[in-house]
Amino acid sequence: MATAILVDLFHLSCPTYGACVVEHTKRVSALIDNDANGPVYLILCQPREVTSDTRNLEQHFSRKKQTQVLKHECIAASLYTFKQAVDESGITEVEVITSAQRRTIIQMYLDLLFTAIYKFEFKVVLDHLDCSFDSPTMTRVQFTDVKDEVSNFLQHLPAVRGEITILGSSLISDCFSHGFTTRSGGISYISTLSSLNLFSSSRRRDPKAVVAENLRRLGLKAGFQPHQFHLIKTNHASDVWVMGKTPPESYDGIVTNQAGVVIAAPGADCMPLLFSDPVAKVIGVAHAGWKGTLMGVAMTTANAMVSEFGSKLEDIVVVIGPSVGPCCFTLERNSAKEFHSIHPDCVRDIESPMPYVDIRLATRILLQRGGLLPEHIQDDTVTDRPNVTLCTSCHPESFFSHVRDGINFGTQIGFLWIKESSDIQQIDS
Ligand SMILES: *[C@@H]1O[C@H](CO)[C@@H](O)[C@H](O)[C@H]1NC(C)=O
Repeated sequence: MATAILVDLFHLSCPTYGACVVEHTKRVSALIDNDANGPVYLILCQPREVTSDTRNLEQHFSRKKQTQVLKHECIAASLYTFKQAVDESGITEVEVITSAQRRTIIQMYLDLLFTAIYKFEFKVVLDHLDCSFDSPTMTRVQFTDVKDEVSNFLQHLPAVRGEITILGSSLISDCFSHGFTTRSGGISYISTLSSLNLFSSSRRRDPKAVVAENLRRLGLKAGFQPHQFHLIKTNHASDVWVMGKTPPESYDGIVTNQAGVVIAAPGADCMPLLFSDPVAKVIGVAHAGWKGTLMGVAMTTANAMVSEFGSKLEDIVVVIGPSVGPCCFTLERNSAKEFHSIHPDCVRDIESPMPYVDIRLATRILLQRGGLLPEHIQDDTVTDRPNVTLCTSCHPESFFSHVRDGINFGTQIGFLWIKESSDIQQIDS
């Protein structure tokens, strides 16, 4: 795989910027002519007059390699364009040519806009020229300034596909706000993460700043602030965080009786489960894939609502969100057998090496055995309500899916909160 070369010539405080860029460019071109095997990107300051035009700059390099000049109003914009280019060509290795002082600043941007799958190697060669490229004022750039610049830039990007569309269940009482997200309305541009990806993994190409921007847009649409938002820290097990207590290191359930706090469960085939008790005003969310289902995470969450906040099982309502259907999900026979022992109907063709498994049905059966009322559970069998238990794998236009898209999958969520009493009065009046 090729290595991209990023040449940082962005140094606004230089009074002789044009001459300086030419000088740096000569130096860099001599350096990379020998050992580069990938595309070269030059980051320039847009507002400055560059004496030699950018075509001249490109010609310094173009005899041997593909060169692009990135000339945006801010570094965040240039680095984002650079990221789109390397993502397009599948590149993950980058050599950054800059000065010692600017290295720290560039690193701040890279931390926000890239993930651990990208490998950056710094070459500090642009020092000792007679300009203010390395002026001391440069080092006063604060991380918060960089963060503000990046988030401000991302806020102004157009949505990649359509508007945010949120699915809702008519089984959940109006004293709660809730929803299941779909793919549209975010800014993630990589095909399997596009566009409202709501989880940043160090193993994929969507950085935290992009996911934070997607969450901000979701909050605007749904009516919450990102700082009120708490997403399950999944481990495919059955630990539950009782909000107010110290959270476990990871947990696949959250329960609370605090109004205004948004709790959310991720999923990309795994089930986001929303629990609500309109009598005691208690809520819960759970993330259940096949492992969590077998470990009983759904019933553990319901039981936590009972033991911690005084819910009665017969008052709890559970909605199973978009997730992989029995049409698309297979397991090895040994694991499928565990579902078969919950109920034979959970498995189709148990004798095949990879039987089809119905994790929703297993969830319903376990919840009913635990004491929930059948009519208080919404899944893909419920016909008298709008269907929210859609198959993630069957609907590429609406949902992310691990089974369908492989390891670079994006993540949708189910979210829920108890409305503040002032919100409810506003609605009543
Ligand atoms: C809900 O949608 C899924 C397809 O995503 C389908 O398999 C299921 O039968 C639907 N349920 C109802 C009640 O229509």
